[in-house]
Amino acid sequence: MILQTSKYPIEFYENFQDFLWNFSFNEKTYFLIDSNFYELWRDKFSFLHNNQIFIVPSGEEHKNLETLQKIWKFLCDNQADRKSVLVCLGGGVVGDMGGFAAACFMRGIPFIQIPTTLLSMVDSSVGGKTAIDFFNFKNIIGAFYFPQKVLICKEFLNSLPDRHILAGKAEMFKHAIINDYNHLFDLKEINSKSIYHSVKIKNHFVENDPYEKNIRKALNFGHTLGHAFETCALKNHQDLLHGEAVWLGMYWEMFYFHQFQWITDEVFYEFFRNIEPFLEKIPFNLNFDFLQRSFNYIIMDKKKAHQEIVFPIVKKLGSFELQSVNIQEFLDLLKKFKP
Ligand SMILES: NC(=O)c1ccc[n+]([C@@H]2O[C@H](COP(=O)([O-])OP(=O)(O)OC[C@H]3O[C@@H](n4cnc5c(N)ncnc54)[C@H](O)[C@@H]3O)[C@@H](O)[C@H]2O)c1
Repeated sequence: MILQTSKYPIEFYENFQDFLWNFSFNEKTYFLIDSNFYELWRDKFSFLHNNQIFIVPSGEEHKNLETLQKIWKFLCDNQADRKSVLVCLGGGVVGDMGGFAAACFMRGIPFIQIPTTLLSMVDSSVGGKTAIDFFNFKNIIGAFYFPQKVLICKEFLNSLPDRHILAGKAEMFKHAIINDYNHLFDLKEINSKSIYHSVKIKNHFVENDPYEKNIRKALNFGHTLGHAFETCALKNHQDLLHGEAVWLGMYWEMFYFHQFQWITDEVFYEFFRNIEPFLEKIPFNLNFDFLQRSFNYIIMDKKKAHQEIVFPIVKKLGSFELQSVNIQEFLDLLKKFKP
């Protein structure tokens, strides 16, 4: 299966054999590989030469300038040139950082993205966002830079821990809730078809609104509160994955929309029925104190831009309406309605 986006093709494979059969490279191809992934899959990549591989230490804490410098040094040391291709094999961390490394090296060399986590397959494979973190700011240094192509091989998920599968499903669930109710059934079994379906939905929003002026804002569903939870957890050294924060963000946004009577009882309970089995599996205790503290980070996150937040309001599952809300009014409402 291939999804031809306006910028590059995304190829989908169910198993490693098919993926490898269609994957071509030469001595001018360089590989950035996530360290955990490499440990688990190195036998399958034994055909690569050592001087073609740079192992990227796993984790968000390595998505920084220091690792980026090492990547550029590796390319220089191994005589990479303008014709070289950089292959990014790993989750969103390797994809984001590798894409940015490629964007800057010799003013831009081609790169191929091979996402190996569910989140990076269904989310970061579309949109051309590349970045690193800088001091405490996430994704603050980056560029829009599109890969030559993206290759998605479902078999790579066989080694991905369940916790990361659940985190990746948050974005798939979001795609279903804002765009296509039937996609919810795809979450039961993750295969190349269900991944394709999700990528197609994200691509629909990106292609129809590349500069996030309108409908692309719907992809922020669950992310306003989700980001606040993520920041709050980070400040308190609590372990919360991005996808887990999005699960919680979607639930609490809908909870408050219901309280404010922006959505009906019927929609809220149907939404709850669908999200509950996933929420139960999230290993994070979101108590009232944490919820209250996280509200501070909504202001920090958005205040710099305008005094408004645009929310996608799900008035019917599988669709949305955008609604602009003044931040202060929103915060006042949050404080008024206690869970
Ligand atoms: N560019 C975008 O549009 C976009 C969108 C969403 C998220 N992101 C970025 O993506 C990052 C999060 O992505 P992520 O969740 O993939 O995190 P990640 O890259 O840290 O990977 C998660 C974990 O899975 C391990 N791993 C990767 N593939 C594996 C496999 N097949 N088997 C076993 N373990 C494996 C990694 O070592 C890591 O421990 C964040 O930095 C976020 O900012 C970017």
